[in-house]
Amino acid sequence: MKDISYSSSIKVLDDYHDLDDKQIIALCERSIDAMKDAYAPYSKFSVGAAIMQDNGYIIQGNNQENAVYPLGLCAERVTLYAASSQHPDRTITHLAVTTAKELSEGELPPFPCGSCRQVLLEMEQRYKKDIKLYVIGSNKSVCVLETVKDLLPFAFSKSSL
Ligand code: THU
Repeated sequence: MKDISYSSSIKVLDDYHDLDDKQIIALCERSIDAMKDAYAPYSKFSVGAAIMQDNGYIIQGNNQENAVYPLGLCAERVTLYAASSQHPDRTITHLAVTTAKELSEGELPPFPCGSCRQVLLEMEQRYKKDIKLYVIGSNKSVCVLETVKDLLPFAFSKSSL
């Protein structure tokens, strides 16, 4: 018998403007901007995402819903697939995601769903680089994670096949 453990850590800042990198603050702002154009008439839950690639290029996207509910897609995957289809040779280095949900005192912003975590993990493995994540709340607070592995430990991946 053996014990295998994995511990994740998240840094929480009260305001994303306190991040020490102007480019990253701009990335966070692009995810907020993207949220405004979400197509979410059914859930009324708007999500915006912005991805930075290794040349500093930013791609933004948002959740897209459909009257056939399961056909909708999360903001993270809309944006990840756009980045990967438009610039497949560019390594994805950072992802910012923002939700509009009103937060109570001390509540963390909503985190990416399991499906998006799985797609993020594959991007991280494909480009052989940890993707740094910024999860932003409507109150401007931001959770910073150094790698997708912190969101999805013990995952199924290419090497599981
Ligand atoms: N949604 C995202 O865009 N990202 C997530 O990580 C979780 C959920 C979207 C999907 C749907 O359009 C709405 O939020 C409510 O679930």
